[in-house]
Amino acid sequence: MKVTIVGAGAVGASCAEYVAIKDFASEVVILDIKDGLAEGKAMDLMQTASLNGFDTKIKGTTNDYSTTANSDVAVITSGIPRKPGMTREELIGINAGIVKEVSANLIKHSPNVTIIVVSNPMDTMTYLVHKTTGLPKNKIIGMGGALDSARFKYRLSEALDCPTSDVDGMVIGGHSDTGMVPLTRLATRNSVPVSAFLSEERLNKVSEDTKVGGATLTKLLGTSAWYAPGAAVSGLVQAIACDQKKMFPCSAMLEGEYGLNDLCIGVPAIIGKDGLEKIVEIELDDKEKAKIKESAEGVKKTNGLLEL
Ligand code: 2OP
Repeated sequence: MKVTIVGAGAVGASCAEYVAIKDFASEVVILDIKDGLAEGKAMDLMQTASLNGFDTKIKGTTNDYSTTANSDVAVITSGIPRKPGMTREELIGINAGIVKEVSANLIKHSPNVTIIVVSNPMDTMTYLVHKTTGLPKNKIIGMGGALDSARFKYRLSEALDCPTSDVDGMVIGGHSDTGMVPLTRLATRNSVPVSAFLSEERLNKVSEDTKVGGATLTKLLGTSAWYAPGAAVSGLVQAIACDQKKMFPCSAMLEGEYGLNDLCIGVPAIIGKDGLEKIVEIELDDKEKAKIKESAEGVKKTNGLLEL
């Protein structure tokens, strides 16, 4: 199993580290345009192999896509991250051109690759890859919901004062500060609905804190987060590599599912060897349906800024 990670920044390097430590891939290639950066991070990571006990080979390359040839999975993290106070949507001007070029280069060397898009605005970047590469739709996955759900579980465990391992919950909708839909109605603490423990008011605060989880960290860090994004995308890579048939909320191209068409937005999906193998349509209540519809309108507005 060969994995390519484009972008040797904090998210890409964290993803490479988590993939290597999980040791399910034979090879990880990190590619960046900055001279020496990917080579340096790959070498530094390889020097943890004996310490962290993995056999995955990690290589770095400065913009030589031939090194990525025959990748099974490729993660696109390249582009600029947001600064404090910025929305993810404000990155579209620069990141759209980068994502378009990167995806074309990846496919040239790995025609059967499954692409996981992380670069923001992620739902729109995922849509861009669908529209410009012609890859089968199951081979393009946007990573946002896995990260947002991890933040949702963190906030739920904080509110419940319990281990996160006791908590389950999912966030669907757009990966944006306003478009996320944390499914508080379905969240559980060890199979018990969280509404048995938390008031509606406290659950609303969990929701709101989840939605701005990225912006909260950007304010503290001065740039976008990287540990949780890297870990979230490494989970998707593993589900593909190990054909896990795991269900994640992922940004998927919708063709009527949830009453939505011609956009990519976070919905529950089964991830396995064939990529995004199935979109799962769960029963939403009227409030949730209205929220996902409103979220879709926001994503479509950002998609409208693309020059396709
Ligand atoms: C985040 O929410 C980078 O969009 C990513 O942290």
